Amino acid sequence: MFVSDCLNINEKGHLTIGGKDTVELAKQYGTPLYVMDEQQIRENCRAYVRSIDRCYDGKGMVAFASKAFCCRAMCRIANEEKLGLDVVSEGELYTAVSSGFPASRLVFHGNNKTVSELRYALECGVGRIVVDNPDELVRLQKLAEEMDVTAEILFRIKPGIDAHTHSFIRTGQIDSKFGLALETGEALQVVKQAIGMRSIHVRGVHCHIGSQIFDIQPFELASEVMLRFIAQVKAETGAELSELNLGGGFGIKYTEQDKPVPYDQYMEKVSQTVKKTCEELGINCPFIIIEPGRSIVGTAGITLYTVGALKDIPNIRTYISVDGGMTDNPRYALYQSEYEVLVADRADQPRVGKVTVAGKCCESGDLIGENLPVQDVRAGDTLAVLSTGAYNYSMSSNYNRIPKPAVVMVNGGSERIVVKRETLADIVRNDLD
Ligand code: LLP
Repeated sequence: MFVSDCLNINEKGHLTIGGKDTVELAKQYGTPLYVMDEQQIRENCRAYVRSIDRCYDGKGMVAFASKAFCCRAMCRIANEEKLGLDVVSEGELYTAVSSGFPASRLVFHGNNKTVSELRYALECGVGRIVVDNPDELVRLQKLAEEMDVTAEILFRIKPGIDAHTHSFIRTGQIDSKFGLALETGEALQVVKQAIGMRSIHVRGVHCHIGSQIFDIQPFELASEVMLRFIAQVKAETGAELSELNLGGGFGIKYTEQDKPVPYDQYMEKVSQTVKKTCEELGINCPFIIIEPGRSIVGTAGITLYTVGALKDIPNIRTYISVDGGMTDNPRYALYQSEYEVLVADRADQPRVGKVTVAGKCCESGDLIGENLPVQDVRAGDTLAVLSTGAYNYSMSSNYNRIPKPAVVMVNGGSERIVVKRETLADIVRNDLD
């Protein structure tokens, strides 16, 4: 019935998450409020880990893409579930390391890592640094040599697959700021250069073909292209790269129209393709890394708001204004992303009208969604926006000096705050007189 198994309706007709009454949570912790269900997150982690165990003899690692939802509690969950972690900045790296996450299972991404970020990654002993470009390779090698350590690296490659067109396409050259091009020979040249470098150990290659993808085929094609590249490197240098990181991008359910593929099907198909292609090419099956972000946390989270005002513009639309908006969820403003909303107080009732949910920023585009079917709604109600667990808290801002909401994690009937609500003192903490 709902976009996620952790959501339900109780005897009062209220929406529940992980068995907790959302109207009560809103009262107790205030709104806007992010609420995440820990059991759902752990189940999602386990589904991916199981699929690698089952389909690929456990020869792989699931690295949670922390950009989707990054805080210490989430890093701890990922660690306890034996996942790796994809970090993409000093801030994400610091959050992970300070939560006790083992650096050996970190994968450090980014198309323009600074010298200080690279140094920090080497100091921490990050297990895999994903090198994006030749300038970065040179910078990293110099640092590693100075520090007398070996940098463990993968290379980010553009496999030339665009999964965001109507049906995905392979183009000669994809316009992207990320990674090395295959078709120009750039990738081969840089990999060859790195294989001969002191203080650098090339573990493998990485690609990421997009996000919120529902097809399996582009992932299969990407793995084939990448394996052909590994075979080419072997033929030309004798070195056999042992790791293939296929990135993330697996789609989730935001609305009824979304039909995600069960997570284990990705690994099932991709494993088959990898095994077959490796045999054909005469190379060993690589260690595989996948980096799901959205699909680990997306449907495990909701946002609760308090409705402040209704504005009916006859023959045009009805606005309902909530006490948050683009500052806690910029995804509609940025991508016109669709969400399902419901009145948490009357979740058992039919949807009787359509509303446009407006935030409180001084900006007309500050909307959570337009013409969304909703139950009878009144000022003072708790409005729930579903599937906000990914790329909401992590993309939130302080525009209009609005403090960021708290994140509450529910777990089997109990709950705890994992990120405190920002205060007004937090808002001015860096201002100097
Ligand atoms: N690995 C790499 C290298 C990535 O760049 C990304 C996402 C992921 C893994 C995780 O992808 P996922 O499984 O979450 O789709 N802010 C956008 C999404 C940007 C994704 C960027 N990279 C949104 O809100 O939809």
